[in-house]
Amino acid sequence: MKLKGRVAIITGASSGVGYATARLFAREGATVIAAARRRDRLDHLVAEIATEGHQGFSIPTDVTDSAQVQRLVDQTLGLLGRIDILLNCAGGVMKVSPIESFSDAEWRGVLDTNLSGVFYTARAVVPAMKRQRSGTIINLGSRVGKVGVANIGPFCAAKFALAGLSQSMAQELRPHNIFVTTVYSGLINADIHPLNPAEAFRRQMITTEDVAQALLWVCTLPPSLRVDELPIMPRQVDL
Ligand SMILES: NC(=O)c1ccc[n+]([C@@H]2O[C@H](COP(=O)([O-])OP(=O)(O)OC[C@H]3O[C@@H](n4cnc5c(N)ncnc54)[C@H](OP(=O)(O)O)[C@@H]3O)[C@@H](O)[C@H]2O)c1
Repeated sequence: MKLKGRVAIITGASSGVGYATARLFAREGATVIAAARRRDRLDHLVAEIATEGHQGFSIPTDVTDSAQVQRLVDQTLGLLGRIDILLNCAGGVMKVSPIESFSDAEWRGVLDTNLSGVFYTARAVVPAMKRQRSGTIINLGSRVGKVGVANIGPFCAAKFALAGLSQSMAQELRPHNIFVTTVYSGLINADIHPLNPAEAFRRQMITTEDVAQALLWVCTLPPSLRVDELPIMPRQVDL
């Protein structure tokens, strides 16, 4: 087991990449703290993990609410005493539309979920990781956080900003033996509401299980190696 004894907080664990990674990390011996808003999905995940003989906890959390994020981290430390991995998967496009059709609330919603949520979780876990003198933080960025794409302006803006936040944290936290990696992914066959692609196109995307394997690799790097950025793409599609 590659993650035996490690404690991993995974946001966005109720579906997609977060869900698949929670399953894999638990199988590899990590104790998983599953966070997202949908309690029923988190409870289902934790039950599946338990059925396989592994350990997980569900802590429903809205990452746009810094008080809920602080409670997530405090409860994790109360239960398990340490946090080795923070995996920020919570996020999403939310709306595909011309820029002038986004309301103030929609703009803020996309930024709050994809950017502020990462800031809140990182800010909350870093004191514990500094005390431990170890930690891994992985942020799910996007290919469209490197290259702007039409009709998802707020999402592109949030993921571009996430790249800057991640680079800054990586530099700042490295002396504390805390390593920050941004995974820039192309299209993943997850919920990806509201894109709703055809089934044939979905089959060309990266699977959530394969993303989970990439994330496991980042969490189990050899001691001389760090990975600040990891671009991943579907084999045959440039999106
Ligand atoms: N799918 C792609 O093609 C793709 C490509 C590049 C990057 N990404 C990024 O990969 C990450 C995972 O997305 P996915 O593809 O796995 O999509 P997904 O299946 O839609 O998962 C998104 C997750 O985010 C959670 N979430 C959304 N808002 C939240 C909030 N306010 N508080 C807490 N959790 C929240 C959702 O759970 P609840 O609704 O239960 O809260 C869900 O578990 C995202 O950051 C996404 O931007 C995806």
